[in-house]
Amino acid sequence: MNPDLTKVIHRDLRRTYPLLVRGEGIYLYDAEGKRYIDGSGGSAAVTSIGHGVAEVVEAISAQARTLAYTPTHVFTTAAIETCARLIVEEFAPPGFERVWFVSGGSEATENAVKMALQYHRERGNGTKQTVISRWGSYHGSTLGALAWSGNAGRRRPYVGVLPRSEHIPACFPYRCAANGGCPPCDLSCAGHLERVIRQLGPENVAAFIAEPVVGATLAAVPASAGYLQAIREICDRHDVLFIADEVMTGFGRTGRNFAVDHWAVIPDLIACAKGISGGYAPLGAVLAKPEFVGEVRRRGSSFVIGHTSAGNPLSCAAGAAVLRYLRDHDLVRNAAEVGEHFLRRLRALQDRHPMIGDVRGMGLLLGIELAQDRATKAPFLPSLGVAKRVGAATLARGLVSYPGTGTVDGVMGDHLLYAPPLTITCSQVDDLVAILDESLAAVAGEITSLG
Ligand SMILES: Cc1ncc(COP(=O)(O)O)c(C=O)c1O
Repeated sequence: MNPDLTKVIHRDLRRTYPLLVRGEGIYLYDAEGKRYIDGSGGSAAVTSIGHGVAEVVEAISAQARTLAYTPTHVFTTAAIETCARLIVEEFAPPGFERVWFVSGGSEATENAVKMALQYHRERGNGTKQTVISRWGSYHGSTLGALAWSGNAGRRRPYVGVLPRSEHIPACFPYRCAANGGCPPCDLSCAGHLERVIRQLGPENVAAFIAEPVVGATLAAVPASAGYLQAIREICDRHDVLFIADEVMTGFGRTGRNFAVDHWAVIPDLIACAKGISGGYAPLGAVLAKPEFVGEVRRRGSSFVIGHTSAGNPLSCAAGAAVLRYLRDHDLVRNAAEVGEHFLRRLRALQDRHPMIGDVRGMGLLLGIELAQDRATKAPFLPSLGVAKRVGAATLARGLVSYPGTGTVDGVMGDHLLYAPPLTITCSQVDDLVAILDESLAAVAGEITSLG
């Protein structure tokens, strides 16, 4: 829609947005009849089961006909109970038997932190209030979640009003900021957690929050072998809760139900959203163990948090239908298998395109980092806007990518994230890669012509 005609405040106030009218499977269609491959899952790893799934549409419409809304502080519903049971019985790591519902990822991480603070307070450790997180992370855009986020570009404009937070270097061997000596990863990044906890005093630290596979900020960087185990051990030693932010990685995205399953590490709380309802309705959740919830209940209180739309029956009905579809179509396995193929195809692309510095990821959460010089890993100048150019080039050719910048240090660096629906096939991946191939060649030409 033309920026002068729309009444909507769009993200980019100068751009003309294509008008989408329909989605089916991994494809989106605009009003002109143009088809796009949904290569990044609705831009940010949301559309887990693809578009237009009839069973989900039917579940939402049946729920709307029966009961569209009720507040969770007065009633429970079949929709919320069923969705929670499916999460616990079919997807959650061992021990996670309680679900707190919210409406999205930022609410999930903020609520997880509030629950952690209350847990400590109820146990008489009220000074434990600081949250430690990592640079090169994203936990949401509300002020609390943004404070813990380490996405420099998104937090810098608000830095003066963000709650106090502490950041340690990411686990990112390709560009190690922990000791600069990686790869291979020597886990000195995990050592930073221990150091910062000691410096702050464990009596002041409530939680450590991290994405097991970093999504939007670094483009699909998995934790190194042993990293999450080291984090778990440090957190245990200092009575610091480990919150896994699985908003992007949960519900099969990385080829396991949750990304922490790859390392068999059990966090204290898991924040999730996106794939849980596949974009059919806004839904997020915090997963907890019964002992954790019991600690608060024993003291006769309830969690001091609340959102009007939390546990909305339509969202929970959508979530339950999406989770059944994921399970019944074995889509987590598909993500693992097709993800391997996708990774191989991206690595082959790297052989042909010198501007691909690195290819990484797990399952169907894959990233490519662009570099001006692959040997030295020197990034492109930000003024060239290379990731944005590649994103625009793929969009023009019918592929939605998720470009990002600031990969190196919050300012320098360009990357692209791919997170298609978990229903994608190997031959559809080949189509996607062919468009990317052509787009990279076109952008390489553009940059050369700029001198
Ligand atoms: C890892 C992670 N956490 C939190 C969020 C915030 O989720 P939302 O945009 O639904 O608030 C995101 C969104 O991209 C995310 O990727």
